[in-house]
Amino acid sequence: MASRYSEVYAAWKSDPHGFWAEAAAAIDWFESPRRIFEPERGTYGHWFPDGVTNTCHNCLDRHVEAGRGEQAAFIYDSPVTGRIEKISYAALLADVKATAAVYRKLGVGKGDRVIIYMPMVPQAVIAMLAAARIGAVHSVVFGGFAASELAVRIDDCQAKLVVSASCGLEPGRTVAYKPLLDQAIAIASHKPAHCLIFQRDMLAAEMVPGRDIDFAEVLAAAKAEGEEVPCTPVLSTDPLYVLYTSGTTGQPKGVVRDNGGHMVALKWSMEHFFGVRPGEVFWAASDIGWVVGHSYIVYGPLINGNTSILFEGKPVGTPDPGTYWRIIAEHGVAVMFTAPTALRAIRKENPGAAYVAPYDLSRFRALYLAGERADPDTIRWAEQALGVPVIDHWWQTETGWPVAGNPMGLGLLPVKYGSPAVPLPGYQVEVVDDGGNPVAAGTLGNVVIRLPLPPGCLPTLWNADQRFQAAYLEEYSGYYKTADAGYVDEDGYIFIMARTDDIINVAGHRLSTGAMEEVCASHPDVAECAVIGIADPLKGQTPAGFLVINSNVSRETSEIEREVIGLVRERIGPVAAFRTAICVRRLPKTRSGKILRSTIQKIADRQPWKMPATIDDPAILDEIAEALRAKGIGI
Ligand code: COA
Ligand code: AMP
Repeated sequence: MASRYSEVYAAWKSDPHGFWAEAAAAIDWFESPRRIFEPERGTYGHWFPDGVTNTCHNCLDRHVEAGRGEQAAFIYDSPVTGRIEKISYAALLADVKATAAVYRKLGVGKGDRVIIYMPMVPQAVIAMLAAARIGAVHSVVFGGFAASELAVRIDDCQAKLVVSASCGLEPGRTVAYKPLLDQAIAIASHKPAHCLIFQRDMLAAEMVPGRDIDFAEVLAAAKAEGEEVPCTPVLSTDPLYVLYTSGTTGQPKGVVRDNGGHMVALKWSMEHFFGVRPGEVFWAASDIGWVVGHSYIVYGPLINGNTSILFEGKPVGTPDPGTYWRIIAEHGVAVMFTAPTALRAIRKENPGAAYVAPYDLSRFRALYLAGERADPDTIRWAEQALGVPVIDHWWQTETGWPVAGNPMGLGLLPVKYGSPAVPLPGYQVEVVDDGGNPVAAGTLGNVVIRLPLPPGCLPTLWNADQRFQAAYLEEYSGYYKTADAGYVDEDGYIFIMARTDDIINVAGHRLSTGAMEEVCASHPDVAECAVIGIADPLKGQTPAGFLVINSNVSRETSEIEREVIGLVRERIGPVAAFRTAICVRRLPKTRSGKILRSTIQKIADRQPWKMPATIDDPAILDEIAEALRAKGIGI
């Protein structure tokens, strides 16, 4: 089939408001928007400013009313507990209504914030949708973050309620969430009034009387009472959620998502980008703590009337590298989404893909990859192993849905390995030099998106309009700065090569080296430090810290290195995968004092490097190369 991409992209470009007005007709509004875009409002304008709607209504009520009640909304497949459960749209709606009633009794109303700190269990999704139902704003915090990261988020959004669980299950260990939550609340200056705790069979959490409430008990009681909680009408521009993501400091950025634009964009993308029809099974193997989980485990598939897979497991080891293929076959997955790192993990354990053979993948149409650059080797391996298109696409927490990709729903374009293909309607992607001037096709530069951003993208940062302006809009006038470096080739294909800031991508997880440096520097024996991302064959990148120790310290450096590693795990969390710390005599710097991070990175990554002319102490780079060699890293 010839691709309709060019025609559809051109239609958007010639009439963007008409394009999004038509897309907006695919969702239910209590009051349809009369204005499609209002440029005077907000930092770059607001989409559908006078539309009134509710995201929970579009995810659940309207499908049940339309006869989809018996279809599974979710299939909870949990190889770590051995459970597989189908949850119909009608059953999910009943649980969400009851949970919304519980929220209300706890004094949570429209605009109040609810933090959700949970493993991949259905109660987490119920907690999200119940907040959406009453117009409360949820903020999901990934389980791999430490107590202090949770505390920062509780304080920033001033959460009235926290929903959590007694534990999560990581291969080989049970992660007790509740003590982490207790610790976070102890650290936070703002104290949430209540915590709803889902007690799991494998671990009972100790409850704080007066504050903590057993989620299952109150949910059952609310269901028995049969209280009806209607969907609260919200403005299209009211916030649905805040999702914190790594910024360039220890203070994460609270990405705000609205209700109307978000639904319109997700609905469009499910149909026209992923090419999934209502009723089909869609699986994003991510976590609800990340944007992928928000957009494509929960909201996108439900808005589109799909069955979504809620997977509590890992690509390998739960129990073997065939788990993904089992799930695709057993539940009839049509389209799947994962991170390249997961495929690399599978390939490492099963290079010949023998684990694919026992499964019938005949209903499987495409595999989408994002979260980090999809290396051509991994794509080719997956194409061969699975016999379906393997499609790289590029986006960010901030955008909420893909900026670029090969649109299956419009007909695939020719593939160029290493490129997430072309910009989607809504996005005009350009590449500029550091002065903001356009560069020629094929020239590496700063990837920017012309304003306004399309529906679904962040309107601002939570309580931080100024920071939003400064971080994204100020540097290149009239553009949104993606902080990615890349180029666009002669055919308009985008290539995303690296970040231009201190963000690194570890196993598809976005982390700030600046935040890690803050933690390393807080160790009493550390005078100065630098954290860089070094290439890793499995995780893409892993962090490594270089530490300069105070001159009066006579302890073993290996002891300090161990302590610093422990500190990053304790303050940021295991997800940082910070396992390399190296004490050095001093940091390599230019004579003006700038740390030569990229040179250290090149040495560690075994890339050719040149002695910078402006270096103040040339011997130090050889010492660093030697220290890396001693740890089995780099040249
Ligand atoms: N709760 C608590 N701890 C968690 C966690 C969670 N939800 N998720 C991860 N962790 C912990 C892990 O247990 C691990 O701890 P450890 O240091 O004690 O081993 C640490 O955080 C790092 O985890 P992870 O990044 O998962 O690395 P891994 O080596 O355990 O597994 C992969 C490697 C590639 C299999 C794994 O990273 C993976 O499945 N990646 C897919 C990425 C993905 O879906 N990204 C979402 C964006 S699309
Ligand atoms: P996150 O906000 O966690 O989704 O991370 C977004 C960042 O991940 C982007 O700015 C990119 O640096 C990187 N990224 C995501 N998808 C891709 C991709 N397909 N190709 C290259 N980089 C990607």
